Amino acid sequence: MAQHGLDNAPPFGQQQPHAAAAAASASASPAAPSPQDLATLQAQLRAFMRAQEEAKARGQPPLAMDPQLMRAVQDMQQRMAQQQQQQTPHEDKEKAKPDPAALAVLACTASPSGHVYPSRAALIAACSEAHAIPLRRLMIKRSPTVHPSPALEADCRRLLATLQADPATLQVRETLRLQCEQLVQSAWGADRCSVQLFGSSVNTLCDVRSDVDLCLSLSPPAGGQPIDKSAVVEELAALLQPRMSDVLPLPKARVPIVKFTAPAALGALKCDIGINNHLAVRNSELIRDYMAMDTRARDLCLLVKYWAKRRKINDTYRGTLSSYCYVMMVIHFLQSEAHCRPPVLPCLQTWQRPPLDTPEGAPVMIDGFDCWYHRDLHAASLAEHGYGPAASHSANRASLVDLLLGFFRLYAHEFDFKEWVVSVRTGAYLDKKKKVWSASGKKDRHVLCVEDPLDLGHNLARGCDPTALYEIRGEFMRAFSLMRDGASFADVCEPYTKEWRGA
Ligand code: CTP
Ligand code: MG
Repeated sequence: MAQHGLDNAPPFGQQQPHAAAAAASASASPAAPSPQDLATLQAQLRAFMRAQEEAKARGQPPLAMDPQLMRAVQDMQQRMAQQQQQQTPHEDKEKAKPDPAALAVLACTASPSGHVYPSRAALIAACSEAHAIPLRRLMIKRSPTVHPSPALEADCRRLLATLQADPATLQVRETLRLQCEQLVQSAWGADRCSVQLFGSSVNTLCDVRSDVDLCLSLSPPAGGQPIDKSAVVEELAALLQPRMSDVLPLPKARVPIVKFTAPAALGALKCDIGINNHLAVRNSELIRDYMAMDTRARDLCLLVKYWAKRRKINDTYRGTLSSYCYVMMVIHFLQSEAHCRPPVLPCLQTWQRPPLDTPEGAPVMIDGFDCWYHRDLHAASLAEHGYGPAASHSANRASLVDLLLGFFRLYAHEFDFKEWVVSVRTGAYLDKKKKVWSASGKKDRHVLCVEDPLDLGHNLARGCDPTALYEIRGEFMRAFSLMRDGASFADVCEPYTKEWRGA
């Protein structure tokens, strides 16, 4: 691999004795990077970028950055990070606008390949390829470091003990599934159909408020037409009518379903049943497997779901977000080098995937999407990379409450709603423009973008309009500041009572 660095620009430090001296003593007392230092470095980086582009155009392998230039960049990066840490919140506000030169400097070391990006947007667009990009350093708005009160952890633990569904609750769901299965098999035959549970009944995030999500797997009759889901929904509603209450077919919904309430003997549970929703069955297994990797992941999801329900921002019919969407946001936060360092979870869809032409790595196709993910990661391999089943076994020692606070802070103050797409599939942010999920007019369906990990064209937050986003973001800000100021978790989750959210 060729090396490239200084091109026409003189080496950093030789021409700038002041900067070199400052860099050398950075660990003792870092000097603020001067505009000249940054400009010099930027010139060198531009030269490097030009050479990169030329090499690429010639079909040559990527250039390695000159070690001297890389060191200079790292020194500068360290000084800037320390400078940022020393800023008061007021100064943070003043300096909120990023200096393009500073961003180029930070971007430079961000990529493991040493690639330099000409702009913040270009860097973010490339994040899917470069997982380890420390975006935190690029955060425009930085909130001061805070330490939640130790009482909060105990608070959350007490609540979790009451939230988790016991085996009897899960058994009721299984009984309901069986009853539905018997019903549909009596109409369509056991060889043509079955019923599966999905959602929180199987992903280990079931709480007392959870609905029951069911999937009717129905194959077409021999030699017959493909399944017409809307028609099946009507037939299914007629079948359920004598046994269940509040039966409501929704044949025109994006995903046609029948809603109903189970008999009192089965807990009067609210249920949804859809047809051939195999992607949902698979994504529920994906969530279950993520939740099994670290107890903090499951606890965090349960707390966030509870908070969202109490604050009435968990209703897709009112433009807020589904539990599923919140769970994806939590998983992504825990995967993210930028916000949760070192990450608590790997990316199961990409990490250590065996080659596609081996049986272990071969695509698992469902409805045209490759739904492969790692189902057999060994504990030893995970431990080797710093992942473990709990804080005591993980390279990330953060407490549950630290993580909760970090999650609230991310969506209250750090998340770039204009540019980023949350992508659990890649464990990184995608670029809205690249995904063609950019804002357009009043009916903007992409004010918040959360990619479904399997159905890649599906933005899980597409029902969220600017008004709903304003409410949701306000809730994140409220939760963050209450936790930061030492409030109890009961205060954070105080039931929302105003009209707008259907209270
Ligand atoms: N789902 C989906 N796409 C969506 C919403 C939901 O595929 N846009 C599927 C997912 O499989 C999800 C399931 O529907 O796991 C249930 O969604 P939801 O009820 O929002 O999540 P639960 O985990 O069941 O949460 P709750 O306990 O609140 O019911
Ligand atoms: Mg559910």
